[in-house]
Amino acid sequence: MELLEDAASLVARATAHFRPSGRPYVTLTYAQSLDGAIAARPGHPLALSCRDSQAMTHALRAAHAAILVGIGTVLADDPSLTVRLVEGPHPQPVILDSRLRFPPFAKLLQHPTRAPWIIASPGAKAERQAALEHAGALVYRLPAASNGGIDLVALLQLLGREGITSLMVEGGAQVITSFLNYRLVDQLIVTIAPVLVGGVRVLDVQNLPRPGGLPRLSNVTYQRLGVDLVVRGEPDWTV
Ligand SMILES: NC(=O)c1ccc[n+]([C@@H]2O[C@H](COP(=O)([O-])OP(=O)(O)OC[C@H]3O[C@@H](n4cnc5c(N)ncnc54)[C@H](OP(=O)(O)O)[C@@H]3O)[C@@H](O)[C@H]2O)c1
Repeated sequence: MELLEDAASLVARATAHFRPSGRPYVTLTYAQSLDGAIAARPGHPLALSCRDSQAMTHALRAAHAAILVGIGTVLADDPSLTVRLVEGPHPQPVILDSRLRFPPFAKLLQHPTRAPWIIASPGAKAERQAALEHAGALVYRLPAASNGGIDLVALLQLLGREGITSLMVEGGAQVITSFLNYRLVDQLIVTIAPVLVGGVRVLDVQNLPRPGGLPRLSNVTYQRLGVDLVVRGEPDWTV
């Protein structure tokens, strides 16, 4: 399958990107309904993709060195972020969590091979850090961006220093919006499920500073997986 072959060649593309920049190649990926929703209600999970596209997502996970979600997704979905539907290594889980709201009972603390990396801001409480480290997580502190949240450029530099050459960003809405806002996406892979949901929009339009600042994709491929349509492309940041 074309997209799966693409995932296998990702290592070469990521290495070519990492060498000059020192930053990981970033794949932004999520599943949405036909009407552009990623969840039915704020803070609640919704299974959108079919089994075949889930397997594609797991193959993508296995091809990336790290996988990132925001704390909103951890609180809503309690994800494992592991590779289960295909053979392959688990990527390093990375969580954006300025205030260390990460729950001590989260499934990510039971990860089979990797302690989650939790990225907090300098002001997060030291006792929260101690409790999470005691539970097996690794906490990093990074500066906040001017409009709040973790500074994503500093994040990618940190991941580069840790040897992470490719990063898969899986959501949720705030995190997807931030990565697009800061133009830090190298490829986009969107699974479109044939359902109307009317729920949480994939882009948080309140937090989009530049009208017209979102990209058109180039080198676009389309693939049907089960009942879903998967669209892949590279954002054109030059316009
Ligand atoms: N369909 C899909 O593919 C998919 C995938 C993933 C999630 N989801 C859904 O998405 C929903 C969660 O989305 P969400 O928007 O509420 O949460 P989110 O994007 O997962 O996390 C947002 C939180 O991350 C923290 N954060 C730290 N630095 C940030 C930065 N630079 N940019 C953005 N956020 C940053 C902020 O909390 P602090 O200020 O406390 O740090 C922010 O409130 C859930 O319903 C989940 O089911 C769907």
